[in-house]
Amino acid sequence: MRATDPRASGATSSPLLGAARPPALRAVIAGTGGYLPERSLTNDELAAWKGLETSDAWIVERTGIRRRHIAAEGETASDMAAKAALAALAQAGAEVGEVDAVIVATATPDSAFPSTAARVQGRLGIGKGFAFDLAAACTGFVYALGVADALIRSGQARGALVIGTEIYSRILDWTDRGTCVLFGDGAGAVFLRAVPEAEAGGRGLLSTHLHADGRFGDILNVDGGAGSTGGTGVVRMAGREVFRHAVAKLSSAVDEALAANGLGHDDVAWLVPHQANIRIIEAMGKKLGLGLDRVVVTVDRHANTSAASIPLALAEAARDGRIKPGDLVLMEAIGGGLTWGAALARF
Ligand code: UT7
Repeated sequence: MRATDPRASGATSSPLLGAARPPALRAVIAGTGGYLPERSLTNDELAAWKGLETSDAWIVERTGIRRRHIAAEGETASDMAAKAALAALAQAGAEVGEVDAVIVATATPDSAFPSTAARVQGRLGIGKGFAFDLAAACTGFVYALGVADALIRSGQARGALVIGTEIYSRILDWTDRGTCVLFGDGAGAVFLRAVPEAEAGGRGLLSTHLHADGRFGDILNVDGGAGSTGGTGVVRMAGREVFRHAVAKLSSAVDEALAANGLGHDDVAWLVPHQANIRIIEAMGKKLGLGLDRVVVTVDRHANTSAASIPLALAEAARDGRIKPGDLVLMEAIGGGLTWGAALARF
């Protein structure tokens, strides 16, 4: 979504109407937060499972994954989301009273309804504004950023929690080595604050670029779930095909994001990609001319946490001081749908 709001021109009054216009607004990433369940499951532990026939060597070589976190029994996507959200608010120095929108990207909601977002809102004691879930699989966080950006620019929200939270451990076929070794659980969040463009100093979301092609829905899906008349309710993936789409579609999405802002590869301080496979991440870094020292990588320790992977990576790199104020951060993701997209933000 590009800013199409005429107020983005910076005009504050209309010569025709004579009425004062509200200032153009920017969605500034004021805080980031992450949460990972305590239990960490290593490749060696998986390799020891009878009948799975995998190995640490195969998983590391083909994916870069060494371990992943697994939610505790009874722990839910909303539990994890609330923890990540509180961490993001604390880092932003924001009160929960500043939040008037909660958007949760997840493929593993606690229930069909109330939405995970409404549960988070309730858990945080927020009784105003609005809350909803968004389903775009691994691209969910980029989609949610796009929606939140549009809501903030149009004046419909002033403080938005954008959260990715996933418990894939509950929708995996733990006998399918082609999928079960790839995913992990966790949650990440950002708090977006509406700041008048004139005061933002160039900070904030610059643009988001969202895509989908439903004709490829079958290559990465959950076969069953709420409203389904069959299926097993677990993740199925034609890995090699998804891989092929990933490199081409992510490349075009990042080109689109940079071109839309008149920016080049050299302007990017950090690439924060969706964390599905180190080979895809390396290919994207190479395309942008960025070494792995300018790419935030968590896939080795988190595996693929779907919609949570980008905000978890953002939180890690913002907290350890890698991402600094003023840095241009490029995010990209692809997932079931197929969905894919990119987002550019200045911290
Ligand atoms: O987040 C959403 C987006 N998802 C992605 O971007 C995932 C994209 N795809 C991938 O990351 C990779 O395709 C995978 C990691 C899923 C698979 O890697 P690959 O190099 O494409 O392997 P493959 O599926 O072509 O399988 C190669 C071989 C097969 O054996 P044969 O047929 O050559 O004898 C598989 O059966 O590796 C075998 N294999 C395994 N062996 C040990 C598949 N999974 C495993 C395993 N352990 N866990």
